Amino acid sequence: MKVYSQYLEHPIFGIVSDAAAELGVRCFTIGGFVRDCFLGRPCNDIDIVVEGSGIELATVVSRRVKANLAVYRNFGTAMFKYKGMEIEFVGARKESYHRESRNPVVEDGTLEEDQCRRDFTINAMAFSLQREDYGALVDPFGGMSDLKNGIIRTPLDPDTTYSDDPLRMIRAVRFATQLGFRIVPESLESIKRNVGRLDILSRERIADELAKILLSKTPSTGFYLLEQTGLLEKFLPQLSALKGVETQDGKGHKENFSHTLKVLDNVAAMELEMGRESNLWLRWAALLHDVGKPATKKFDQKAGWSFHAHDFIGARMVPQIFKQLKMPLNEKMKYVQKLVGLHLRPIALVDDIVTDSAVRRLLFDAGDDIDDLMILCNADITSKRDNVVRRHKENYKLVKEKLVEVEAKDAIRNFKNPIDGELVMKHFGIPPCNAIGQIKEYVKEAILDGRIENNFDQAFVLMEEKGAELGLRPVSLSEDDARS
Ligand code: CTP
Repeated sequence: MKVYSQYLEHPIFGIVSDAAAELGVRCFTIGGFVRDCFLGRPCNDIDIVVEGSGIELATVVSRRVKANLAVYRNFGTAMFKYKGMEIEFVGARKESYHRESRNPVVEDGTLEEDQCRRDFTINAMAFSLQREDYGALVDPFGGMSDLKNGIIRTPLDPDTTYSDDPLRMIRAVRFATQLGFRIVPESLESIKRNVGRLDILSRERIADELAKILLSKTPSTGFYLLEQTGLLEKFLPQLSALKGVETQDGKGHKENFSHTLKVLDNVAAMELEMGRESNLWLRWAALLHDVGKPATKKFDQKAGWSFHAHDFIGARMVPQIFKQLKMPLNEKMKYVQKLVGLHLRPIALVDDIVTDSAVRRLLFDAGDDIDDLMILCNADITSKRDNVVRRHKENYKLVKEKLVEVEAKDAIRNFKNPIDGELVMKHFGIPPCNAIGQIKEYVKEAILDGRIENNFDQAFVLMEEKGAELGLRPVSLSEDDARS
């Protein structure tokens, strides 16, 4: 029996071990913590499984370390935070599940029974916290060897494990993606058989797993697996619809599913390269940037395939996709929507001669998200033809330079109209009305077009001009008129 007490240096383990001995129960640390010790991955959660009451042991330990204990009686668990770690206690369980729900019927069990009902062999390993064999590895399903060989395998027949908690099918994909592991064929087959079971899952739990896949180093791995197994079709059919190439008159179009995944990987690589923190929502934008393509696909004998306005249609699809995954319909969604809607703009700019006014408009529309948009846009260059890539990259560079130049001159990024509604009302002596919006819009357009500079004096002149056109007169003038 191999002993790994070197991994149990955190002071909580000794305290738990003593308390368990005093209560006369056996306990172990299990799951992600053990796996991550061997992988050398940082881990902030410690799961303790007790052959007895998890809540009772947690109560004794939390008192000793003076931590605030949160008890979840329904689940038979309790947790507290201590010295940078979240420590969760649970009684060893043997479970059976109702087919129509993922809430288990729980009965007390032994460590071995508890290990059987876990998701993967690599997540079912435990270290003993008994004084007599402190740190001994308990690994009945060969988790250690699967870890070494990079294998995702269920401890029981995969049909049982996945049917017990269908989220595990997506977790298998998630771990394969995060760790660069391979899901064993019988498990993949089982997932294909059990995709129907996804229906009992809450969409939020699916979205959480998707976020972890998106945030990994090579997210495409996960999405190919989700597609292959039929999982993706179940909760993101709009993405599956990107698959395939249609041919007419011998002409085919780009395979949009693999293109999308390449763009996603490119974004991940660029974030890493630039030393940026991973931005989940930028990754969502990459995943959804071409989602409007199937609905806009057209074939013309002369021009070939086109996806006209797929940016616009794609942006319109974003709220529905967020809703179906129960993701927040807040500013994050709006950000994704904005990036999807604007993703063609930077490169389109260089097809014409880059005018300052076009650059100003892009800066205005993208605002502070312009840098993220440029990452997405650069990531979107995936052609296999070297000359196309070279041309696009050169154009991209040009637009970037132009953006910096115009922003330095005109400060459009955080555009604030030099003329506000208050001023218009006061100047013309008018109540809130439609004319105010028209005047402000006129001034804004003039700045974006470059007809005037972005400053108060020039904007003021234009306000007067537009006001006169609308039949308004400055208050002082009207008073003069009244006097004469
Ligand atoms: N587990 C399981 N089935 C699930 C979820 C979790 O069997 N659907 C078990 C696994 O043994 C897992 C442990 O509960 O290791 C803890 O789950 P969780 O904290 O969700 O995952 P971790 O393995 O810790 O990994 P991560 O922190 O990356 O989510």
